[in-house]
Parts: sequence; C-alpha cells; structure tokens
Amino acid sequence: MVEGHVTISELKKVYESGDERTKAIDDLSLEVPSGEFLSVVGPSGCGKSTLLYLVAGFLEATSGTIAVDGEPINGPGTDRGVVFQNYALFPWRTVMGNVTYGLEEKGVDREERRTTAQRFIEMMDLDGFEDKYPKELSGGMKQRVAIARTLAYDPKILLMDEPFGALDQPLREALQDHLLGIWSGLEKTVIFITHDVEEAVYLSERVMIMTRHPGTKKTAVEIDIDRSRSREEIIMSEEYTQTKNQVWQSLREETKPEAQL
Ligand SMILES: Nc1ncnc2c1ncn2[C@@H]1O[C@H](COP(=O)(O)OP(=O)(O)OP(=O)(O)O)[C@@H](O)[C@H]1O
Ligand SMILES: [Mg+2]
Repeated sequence: MVEGHVTISELKKVYESGDERTKAIDDLSLEVPSGEFLSVVGPSGCGKSTLLYLVAGFLEATSGTIAVDGEPINGPGTDRGVVFQNYALFPWRTVMGNVTYGLEEKGVDREERRTTAQRFIEMMDLDGFEDKYPKELSGGMKQRVAIARTLAYDPKILLMDEPFGALDQPLREALQDHLLGIWSGLEKTVIFITHDVEEAVYLSERVMIMTRHPGTKKTAVEIDIDRSRSREEIIMSEEYTQTKNQVWQSLREETKPEAQL
C-alpha cells in the first residue's frame, strides 16, 4: 500500500487574537506524493511554519482540508514526525529520554524502546551522551537529538522546519547527506522548510516556492539531478546551477521591493 501521501486542498489559516486578524495562509493546494522529498522556500513571514504546523495537526485550519492517504487529519499523530525550527527538546528528559519519547507514545515496550533509540542516537553520532540533559548539549547536538527523536518512532511523513538553520556549514552538510541517506533508505515523505535555496535544490525532488505574506503556492520546480554523484560533482553541475538560479529568481520576485537593497 502507498503510504504518506499528503493532500492539501484550498487551505486557509487566519490567526485571531483579540481584534487582530492575520491571514497567514491563503488558498493553498498541494499534493505531496508518497515518498517525495519536497522543500518549501518563501520569504520570512510568508507562512511556512504555519503550513507545517497545520500539516502536523498542531494548528486548526480556518478552512480547507489536509488529508494523509485520503483520511482528513484530526490533530497530531505518530504518522507525522516534526522537527521544529528551535529544537523543542524536553528539558527534563535526558538524550535517551527524549529519543524514547515517541516510542512510549506508540506503546513500544521498554527494552525495544532503548534498543531502537540507541540505534538512532548512534546514527546521529551522539553515543556517550545518552544520559546528558539538553542544557548540557551544544546547539548542533540538540538539533541531532531532535532529529533522532523524530526518526526513532518511524513516522511515514517527516515535517522539518529549518532543521539545519542554526548549524555551521560542515555539520549542516553532514546532516544533509545523512538525511538524504535516511530518506532513500526508509522511503519517507519529507516536507522540508528552508531559507536556503542551495539546500532546497541539493536535497529535494521538488521545491515549492511560496508567495509573500499571506502565503500560497506560487510555483513548484522539479529538480532533476543525478544524486548518485558526490556533493562536489552535484554542486558543480549545470543542472544544479540552472535549477538553483530558477528557484532563486522566483523567490526574489516575492521579496518586497523595499527589502531589495
Ligand atoms: N501565533 C500567531 N498569532 C498571530 N499571528 C501569527 C502567529 N504565528 C505566526 N503568525 C503570523 O503569521 C504569518 C506567518 O508566520 P510563519 O511563522 O508561518 O512564517 P514563516 O514563513 O515560517 O517565517 P520565517 O521564515 O521567518 O520562519 C506572519 O505574519 C506571522 O506574524
Ligand atoms: Mg518559520
């Protein structure tokens, strides 16, 4: 059975607080086929995080629907795993405690929880830090714990909100390649938000560009790159450069003229 297909139809989100109404997402429709790696780029404040939280089920749509494998979503679920813009680890839990969290939610027994968690802790190069608390870790380590925590309970859909934004270049590149390995090995649907056009083109099969606030889908660009090559070969290639320029140009049109210095 095909799993992890996301269908977003005429989605609209208006935040209301007191008399204030902010339209964050306006009439957005999108299909993300099962197993696709989709990146989302758009100007700051255009509604990318809002979109992700709606798909995660943390926010309720004002109108429109989101369905996973044909079933409208109704709140959060272990079929969708979120990696937040700012780690969001549980400060009162150790690294091991954070990574086993989702497995507890799924009702996995203690022994198996620890074995599975250990596998993802090692995958993220965090072995030896199992008993540390988030406050004892660096930013990059916290982000790796957040990724391990999400991968450990095996959601069919990964929702990632600028997960590598705060990391230095070498770690960012290492985690990008790691994520690609995981994606191709585990056949997951990925919706990946980023500010970084190069990251979007390097990682994904398709990039959705959003309009400026209130955000909707502007266009989507298919990325046709042979990923069997090394990073160096890919970033030097004609297809990569051309696609990157195409996405960048489309995104630039959405930046407010006064912000274009
Ligand atoms: N809880 C909230 N209450 C009211 N308005 C909000 C709330 N969260 C976000 N917004 C507004 O919704 C719009 C979209 O915000 P969102 O965080 O989704 O943008 P974003 O594209 O993720 O931005 P960035 O790239 O800076 O992370 C913005 O105008 C923001 O001010
Ligand atoms: Mg955001």
